[in-house]
Amino acid sequence: MGFSKQSLSALCSLAIFILVIHVPLASSVQDDSGFLKAHNKARAEAGVPPLQWNETIAEFAQNSAEKRAEDCTSENSKGPYAENILSSNGDTTGKEAVKLWTANKCTAAEPPTAEDGCHYAKVVSKRTTQLGCARVWCKNGNMLLKCDYGP
Ligand SMILES: *[C@@H]1O[C@H](CO)[C@@H](O)[C@H](O)[C@H]1NC(C)=O
Repeated sequence: MGFSKQSLSALCSLAIFILVIHVPLASSVQDDSGFLKAHNKARAEAGVPPLQWNETIAEFAQNSAEKRAEDCTSENSKGPYAENILSSNGDTTGKEAVKLWTANKCTAAEPPTAEDGCHYAKVVSKRTTQLGCARVWCKNGNMLLKCDYGP
């Protein structure tokens, strides 16, 4: 006998099991919201090289944003990265956040420090090569969007 019905169905349930446990884990640090593309468009316009998506940094952004989920305050997470934060009163995409951050073409020290108020300078910094961002719903119905810039 070749492939029995039983082994086929066992294989199918194994495949479904792998899908079910894998998808949510993998998607938690993926850029599903256009953050990277929007950054690299702004960077191309500024004449600086594109960024790479970095899952370690995205995980940091996710974890630090989740800590603010109680009140959605856009407080700096005092981590090792420069960051941009947006507290929005509704569903907002990464692309929309980057549009707001790049509206004012301000300048700052290079590399921009964590405390720097100029969002645009962080988006187009020459020293930055790695990007990780997250979106988190807050308990008050607002959304916190956050990007961290490495190295
Ligand atoms: C991603 O970021 C981490 C932390 O800054 C760094 O150690 C790692 O080398 C980066 N990954 C890549 C592929 O550059």
